[in-house]
Amino acid sequence: MQKDTVVFDIIRKELERQRRGIELIASENFTSLQVMQAMGNVMTNKYAEGYPGRRYYGGCEIVDQTEQLAIDRLKAIFGIEYANVQPHSGAQANAAVMLAILQPGDDILGLDLSMGGHLTHGSAVNFSGKLYKPHFYGVGKEDGLVDYNMLEAKAREIKPKLIICGASAYSRDWDYVRIRKVADEVGAFVMADIAHPAGLIAKGLLKSPFDHCHFVTSTTHKTLRGPRGGVIMMKKDFENPFGLKDVKGNLRLMSNLMDMAVFPGTQGGPLEHVIAAKAVAFGEILTPEFLTYQQQVQKNAQAMAKAFTDKGYQIISGGTDNHLMLIDLRNKNISGKKAEQVLEHADITANKNMVPYDDKSAFVTSGVRFGVAAITSRGMKESDMQFVVNAIDTVLMNADDEALHRKVKQEVNEFMTQFVLYPEMG
Ligand SMILES: Cc1ncc(COP(=O)(O)O)c(C=O)c1O
Repeated sequence: MQKDTVVFDIIRKELERQRRGIELIASENFTSLQVMQAMGNVMTNKYAEGYPGRRYYGGCEIVDQTEQLAIDRLKAIFGIEYANVQPHSGAQANAAVMLAILQPGDDILGLDLSMGGHLTHGSAVNFSGKLYKPHFYGVGKEDGLVDYNMLEAKAREIKPKLIICGASAYSRDWDYVRIRKVADEVGAFVMADIAHPAGLIAKGLLKSPFDHCHFVTSTTHKTLRGPRGGVIMMKKDFENPFGLKDVKGNLRLMSNLMDMAVFPGTQGGPLEHVIAAKAVAFGEILTPEFLTYQQQVQKNAQAMAKAFTDKGYQIISGGTDNHLMLIDLRNKNISGKKAEQVLEHADITANKNMVPYDDKSAFVTSGVRFGVAAITSRGMKESDMQFVVNAIDTVLMNADDEALHRKVKQEVNEFMTQFVLYPEMG
């Protein structure tokens, strides 16, 4: 068969784009070469509905090995009893947990999307807000911190079946103990969606949710630095306290309900090639080098936050505990949309983001979100954050000066040549 040069030429251009730019999208990262190599493998040809040792297809004895390895490594990373590595994405992982424990119309309580939450935590345009009845807590207007008083008050008033913690644009750690306490009081399950800070939690740099939250979900491609995908985890399996039954009316262990909610509940055949890549990434996370990487992520985020603060930028909550920060640009007289656009002129990639109590729409926004997981994988250290912040500030404070943007772009491209990305790819 003739090589599809059209597609491969486009892929090559994406490699060049990634190489020359500063990648600050908080949900992105650069996997290792071996993670990518593991993903492009013959297991994409294999159907394997079911789970290792109990499949609906023949010929699964080899893919069973990689899937079991991925499960075992994930359990070792977080010291947990249950892991499902089949969700195709973070959204699928959340959908499966909700399918396992909720009935349509049940009340759920999550962090408001406009305050840093995620679409799958109850947004009206998402399955979670359409199938279930969503309610939200927020962050304080003054301090930008999760308003736990509000969370507790809403939980007591609504008595939701599920309380969701975790976020897409929140730079602080969580009080899982407090959330579990009110959940127990009102008879709710707690799900922590650690898609963003999972890598930091894996290495003990942020609090662990596992002792306090019944279910923990994550993506695998952000701070965990694996292939795109999702996972569901539980510290301990348990017989469900609210008498949840399967479709045949049998009382089941949570692990059974969770497995069934992934397959056949929300997915068909698992992506065994991606699961092989998850296994490789989880193996990397178990090494001491991954601790060094995550420590550097935290140091870089703090150095970047300080550099922004020194230039008069307002970081929501005043700083960061994790790998990201959300900046309110209102005192800089530029919208998030415009900021995203002009930064792109200089090969700096970031995303506009609503800030708490934003007066602009989600399409315009007053904020921008920056994350350092990807640039840390490129090899940047604290001392490099000043260059990055200076470049961003120059572009944002001269938002209509395209000649200046071109100059900054050249400087950015030159700067990035020292952080070689995938040298093996030529
Ligand atoms: C907190 C959180 N949960 C879930 C997701 C969804 O992950 P995916 O895009 O893999 O479906 C994201 C994605 O950014 C996220 O930030």
